Amino acid sequence: MHPSQDPVAELAKAVSLADLESLARERIERTAWDYYRSGAWDERTLARNESSWRELTVHFRGFVDVSARSTVGEFFGARVPSPLFVAPTAMQRLAHADGECATARASSAAGIPMCLSSLSTTPLEEVRAATTAPLWMQIYISADRDATRALIARAEAAGFDGLAVTADTPMWGTRERDIRNGFRVPDGLRLPNLERPGGPTGHSGVGMGGALSWTIDPSASWRDFEAIAAATRLPVVAKGLCRPDDCRRALDAGAAGVWISNHGGRQLDGAPSTAEVLPSCADAVRGSGRPKATVIVDGGVRRGVDVLRAIALGADTIALGRPILWGLGAGGEAGVTRALAIVTAEFDLALALSGVRNLAELRELGKDLVRR
Ligand SMILES: Cc1cc2nc3c(=O)[nH]c(=O)nc-3n(C[C@H](O)[C@H](O)[C@H](O)COP(=O)(O)O)c2cc1C
Repeated sequence: MHPSQDPVAELAKAVSLADLESLARERIERTAWDYYRSGAWDERTLARNESSWRELTVHFRGFVDVSARSTVGEFFGARVPSPLFVAPTAMQRLAHADGECATARASSAAGIPMCLSSLSTTPLEEVRAATTAPLWMQIYISADRDATRALIARAEAAGFDGLAVTADTPMWGTRERDIRNGFRVPDGLRLPNLERPGGPTGHSGVGMGGALSWTIDPSASWRDFEAIAAATRLPVVAKGLCRPDDCRRALDAGAAGVWISNHGGRQLDGAPSTAEVLPSCADAVRGSGRPKATVIVDGGVRRGVDVLRAIALGADTIALGRPILWGLGAGGEAGVTRALAIVTAEFDLALALSGVRNLAELRELGKDLVRR
């Protein structure tokens, strides 16, 4: 084998998340690649997510002794080595045969929390067994509320640590590449967390519309969210918010935190980037009189310095969606490990170069350090 074809050697040469993306692009089947890479309609929100972080300038401080630094953060009361979180992304076995378990093992080894998609291609119990790090379950409110309750009960019984209930998907956004490609869940892959006794599993429709439509519900409302939060002993966050009033609404409904997200630009194209709305949303949470409420943000984070920007603007936890899929596609568990290591090392260096020693200092400097 030519050295350039040795997956392990190539992974070691990946310097940035963009390098992992290039590797993954070579290794993932094209319609699956398009499914992962796509945004909705004209993909403007997808592009804006990435560009908005870059537009924020970091007004670094000179001659600060940064010889002792820490990237340690807190995730719902647990100490974590960095403020990262693996976002839920559907069907990870399209990226690599080891799928969600590879992601879970890598996040476990790094001590980074992970959120599993309810459209996972691996049973949630197997994923739970693959990690000792905090593991959350992403929930869509299904047209079949009993199925949603059963899924939550299953996650609770398996020992999941929290629930992220997705708020931005009353209907599936249109990802036109998937329609053009006739994308569907390939034969041989299952969505084992959505199989209903006696009900159709509905894996066979093109795109996300058709047969998977029962897994979401356009009538889902804050009342449903409130009922979920009241019925579970797990912490619950609302995932996919962009407005301060919605953040307050989520906390009033019993959320332990909010997840500022636009689904990686896959739902409403035209939505603002998450970097644009993070400050006002974080201010709403901080002003809510709930000091423990957690602010999670995702969308377009591609460098450690974006993590620094997000924390300065009020986030506690920064989730990564596609970068994890690129790592997984590039090299399975080792690729996800590489992705997490790259972002963490970049974040540490960004702290040093900014003259900041830890997350507490970063928060304190906040909008003085990171400006638009
Ligand atoms: C291929 C793919 C599948 C996704 N599947 C889900 C999902 O099942 N549930 C969910 O709440 N969010 C899902 N998301 C959204 C992610 O959780 C996250 O919000 C988004 O990817 C963050 O943006 P980024 O990819 O730019 O990091 C998905 C995103 C992608 C790219």
